[in-house]
Amino acid sequence: MDVSEQTAHGIAEHARSRAAFREMKEGTADDWRIIGGEYRAFARGLPDRVLDHLRLLDGDFGGFPVCRLEHSLQTATRAHRDGRDEQYVVMALLHDIGDTLGSYNHPEVAASILKPFVSEENHWICQNHGAFQGYYYFHFLGMDQNAREQFRDNPYFEACREFCEKYDQAAFDPDYESESLEFFEPMVRRVMAKPLASLYAKAPEAEEETS
Ligand SMILES: [Fe+2]
Ligand SMILES: [Fe+2]
Repeated sequence: MDVSEQTAHGIAEHARSRAAFREMKEGTADDWRIIGGEYRAFARGLPDRVLDHLRLLDGDFGGFPVCRLEHSLQTATRAHRDGRDEQYVVMALLHDIGDTLGSYNHPEVAASILKPFVSEENHWICQNHGAFQGYYYFHFLGMDQNAREQFRDNPYFEACREFCEKYDQAAFDPDYESESLEFFEPMVRRVMAKPLASLYAKAPEAEEETS
């Protein structure tokens, strides 16, 4: 806590680091000042948590020729070397981050994490890449290879098809020289530095202006 906050709220308040309410409806402005301050710091740690979570994919092969971390790095590396911008590359890096907790809907998990920081198109690509990846293997599992056709009239159909064709389905080569997670770390930090849109974006900004 800096000096101006000490002056504004007093030494006694300084010692108080948790809200006092037992139900939200008892909450006060002071409670929410404390929580708001914590939220700001916590939100700033998002890139670290994302990078930690990507590391959970290391060594997780699931029968594939490369582990899920290598697949993620390879997808991002291929996009980067193909001249894609930073936001796209970060989307490529994170597109399967939901594999650990979203075993039945992993594209939606990744898309939700990315949503505040990327364009509508990049969000759509991430959210729907599962059906488009299916074009390369669903028929081997008795599923509909053309499941992606349900999206044929969507303006982002071609962008998602291209993501899968050029980067995602191509990123299972054990001999490919991918960049490291450290290489992408600054990109993750820049893209996730500030939300483009979020229900909670305004409050932390207002807090920052007064401190
Ligand atoms: Fe995926
Ligand atoms: Fe993938």
